[in-house]
Amino acid sequence: MPSNVIVGLQWGDEGKGKITDLLAKNSDYVIRYQGGNNSGHSIHINNRYFILHLIPSGVVYPFIKCIIGPGVVIDPKSLIQEIKDIESIGINTSKVFLSKRAHITMPYHRLLDQYKEEYLGDRSIGTTHRGIGPTYEDKIARIGIRVLDFLNLKIFYKKLKENIDYKNKIITKVYKRPSISFQSIYEEYIEYAKTLSPRIIDSVYEIHNAFHKGKKILFEGAQAMLLDINYGTYPYVTTSSTSTGGVCTGSGIPPNLLKNFIGVAKSYCTRVGSGPFPTEIRNNMSDIIRRRGNEYGSTTNRPRRCGWLDLLSLKYSCMINGITHLIITKMDVLSELEFIKVCVEYKINGKRIQYFPASIELFEEKVEAIYIDFPGWKKDISHIYEYEYLPKNCKKYVNFIESYLNLEILLISVGSERNQNIIKNKSSFFKIFS
Ligand code: GDP
Ligand code: IMO
Ligand code: MG
Repeated sequence: MPSNVIVGLQWGDEGKGKITDLLAKNSDYVIRYQGGNNSGHSIHINNRYFILHLIPSGVVYPFIKCIIGPGVVIDPKSLIQEIKDIESIGINTSKVFLSKRAHITMPYHRLLDQYKEEYLGDRSIGTTHRGIGPTYEDKIARIGIRVLDFLNLKIFYKKLKENIDYKNKIITKVYKRPSISFQSIYEEYIEYAKTLSPRIIDSVYEIHNAFHKGKKILFEGAQAMLLDINYGTYPYVTTSSTSTGGVCTGSGIPPNLLKNFIGVAKSYCTRVGSGPFPTEIRNNMSDIIRRRGNEYGSTTNRPRRCGWLDLLSLKYSCMINGITHLIITKMDVLSELEFIKVCVEYKINGKRIQYFPASIELFEEKVEAIYIDFPGWKKDISHIYEYEYLPKNCKKYVNFIESYLNLEILLISVGSERNQNIIKNKSSFFKIFS
């Protein structure tokens, strides 16, 4: 059974959680393949609102197996808390599993994330301080501790000891901060190991066997394309492959088993943390959008920077991700505006360009967004469920996005609740999700 992938196309927080939750209904598995608890995926069902950080957004359906895959970095303390929190609202987590190959975020990763950001000063990335970057650094440096090390406490002891000896040198000599204690961390983490061990699996075989039995698998992306370590606005990015390429490396699935690549984009743009944002709005319109869209980070509660839809970067994202279908979220947020701007090109040194620059220096000094203006529709659309009832100006906006990107929009989300959607293309939609 070919599988579907859901990825964010901007700087995160496009509403991937809502969309995964909505589309997971007909899946047997939902799999996270990168990132860690830097993510915050909000789900809103029948006035119940909660945020998932590591657990895949299929967890609300008791029949779905949710796997935190090999490419993810797992903070066990945060995961155990998340499991408790969602169980406390009546959600069964017995089908949540962790890959043996995933890497573990330790307390020293969180400290080093914070110290590095402080050291960088005005060049800081604005990370979530969850220790994600330092965990991936250790993975690449081949000194990381993996989930499977939780299954053999002798090995865990040895690896943790070696790591803490090494990290203490960095903490005390480079950052001039107090050293950390091996014993207290070891004692705390062996308890986490015991708690999580029944959920540890070899996800590679589990997923491949599922494919061969014809099971339906949905891959849920975290962060988003413009935060991708290779193709985002480097160095202002996260530390994983957030694009669809990351599905294969982060879950052990070959590309030929993937079929539909569904890209999620907001009807405008937001970004949390530092870094280039060509369409950022620097007047009170930004506050209006932030208020209407409740644009505050789901993980850190920081106000999100707000800006107009950037079609040039969206085209770049669709190209790299091989997007086959598009979902536009938060269309309702634009409803009251007199006019809406859409970026279609950039200008550098007086010259118009149609490509997404690789150079951070160009972005920081020279890139100017070129816009087309659209009239607003000034009508609440949050309770419209059929495309034909959308206001004319809203349809014009939607059609422009489709024609610029040369892609079909499957669904338009008009509110945070699971049912606040307009399925624009019913035949494609039901072909993919039934
Ligand atoms: P994710 O990280 O991509 O899953 O997105 P977040 O959950 O961090 O942020 C998206 C926010 O927008 C959440 O608060 C959602 O409940 C909310 N949301 C999602 N879709 C819509 C929509 O169509 N309209 C409105 N108004 N809110 C939405
Ligand atoms: P979801 O999955 C938005 C941003 C941080 C920072 C940069 C690097 O909810 O879309 P990190 O802690 O990853 O080293 O921080 O990436 N960032 C996100 N922004 N949504 C996210 O996840 C994010 N995860 C990381 O703000 O700019
Ligand atoms: Mg989020």
